[in-house]
Amino acid sequence: MTESTKTATLSFDGKTFELPILSPTAGPDVLDIRKLYAQAGVFTYDPGFTSTASCDSTITFIDGDKGELLHRGYPIDQLAESSHFLEVCYILLYGELPSPAELEDFEARVTNHTMIHEQMHNFFRGFRRDAHPMATMVGVVGAMSAFYHDSTDISDPWQREVASIRLIAKMPTIAAMAYKYSIGQPFVYPRNDLDYASNFLRMCFSVPAAEYEVNPILSRAMDRIFTLHADHEQNASTSTVRLASSSGANPFACIAAGIACLWGPAHGGANQACLEMLEEIGSVDRIPEFIARAKDKNDPFRLMGFGHRVYKNFDPRASVMKKSADEVLDLLGVEDNPKLQVAKELEKQALEDPYFKDKKLFPNVDFYSGIILEAMGFPTSMFTPIFAVARTVGWISQWKEQISDPQLKIGRPRQLYLGETARDYSDIENR
Ligand code: SDX
Repeated sequence: MTESTKTATLSFDGKTFELPILSPTAGPDVLDIRKLYAQAGVFTYDPGFTSTASCDSTITFIDGDKGELLHRGYPIDQLAESSHFLEVCYILLYGELPSPAELEDFEARVTNHTMIHEQMHNFFRGFRRDAHPMATMVGVVGAMSAFYHDSTDISDPWQREVASIRLIAKMPTIAAMAYKYSIGQPFVYPRNDLDYASNFLRMCFSVPAAEYEVNPILSRAMDRIFTLHADHEQNASTSTVRLASSSGANPFACIAAGIACLWGPAHGGANQACLEMLEEIGSVDRIPEFIARAKDKNDPFRLMGFGHRVYKNFDPRASVMKKSADEVLDLLGVEDNPKLQVAKELEKQALEDPYFKDKKLFPNVDFYSGIILEAMGFPTSMFTPIFAVARTVGWISQWKEQISDPQLKIGRPRQLYLGETARDYSDIENR
């Protein structure tokens, strides 16, 4: 953060206050209000944090108007095209492109931590078979704090590193186990001779009764989905992880909190909600009816997979995802997939509609990821767990950045109180 000599003047009730203006390396300037309450006795008010910078960070930058997403300065379309998920994990965690030796070492460390403690298998058996896999993941990831005591002293950089590798390595295994448990099939152990995405597909789809060969086009598409979901600045679930960890809480418990927040349909749950919406629409001729409902202020219905808090032109991830969707569907011979036909026509009609154009609502990352995952054979209930597997590296990178900040303070927002002022209690016999 570059301290600047610029200031903003705030005047009210005959008083004037100078607020320092901090200038970033990219994006808008920020007004530093850290001393505002002490000096002026007032709070700022910003439910939903639409105009609030909660922290400074060097990890990910988004320009919502330009549709730009950078990870440590590297554009997402270049990373999706030329890199792969574990290398993107390295970039997010350590800030630079790895040398061949650094990448080999990092991939080996992740690969050798993909198994979970054998006793943790018992946790799954405590859930109903029809439990949503996100509920299982919140429980099992939180339970990692009861197993891995040797990596929870967050003041120790080495233990922070071990916890980071463990989480990135074990999330695919836990997500695949949640899926297998929900369909009554045996757990499949990870294999060290497979890359991250291929390992995940095999843990999800192989069965003891048959050989399973990973299709390279599907594993490439899976890896790309992981890359496109890896991190996204201070979104709701990342902010949840940052707030939880600001109290010094156990890192595994903080990531479980992030998983819980991601589950919501307005956030990571949108890919599941989007497929369910496409199913409800059912056919192209019903699209106008649903677009009308999305525009109707009296109807709570929204087009799932459309709109974004930050992107106000297009989501760069959706552009890459759309290309991947066509590749996967061409491969799987499901180009006549009714949901994809509805998705493509819905995108076309919505983008031509003045309501969506004026409000800058367009397909986001969740719109096409659901199509690809469904074509791969995942049930909609597994879409958000897959998002959580990918976003774990983002949560961890932001967690590490915050924990290692010597200026770290516990997050403690204030409020605009609109309740009763002080009044005396009245005994029950006097009421
Ligand atoms: C993710 O934050 C991130 O970075 C998230 C994410 C990540 O990688 O972490 O990118 C992942 O969460 C992507 C978003 C997935 N969610 C959905 O697809 C759910 C559907 N989208 C909406 O719920 C909504 O667009 C949000 C939640 C994504 C954004 O909401 P905002 O920024 O708070 O916008 P808003 O609710 O104030 O809406 C602005 C206007 C409103 O109309 P007015 O009140 O101004 O008249 O646009 C309308 C809304 O009614 N609107 C929609 C709409 N989204 C917004 N109308 C119809 N359909 C929609 N999808």
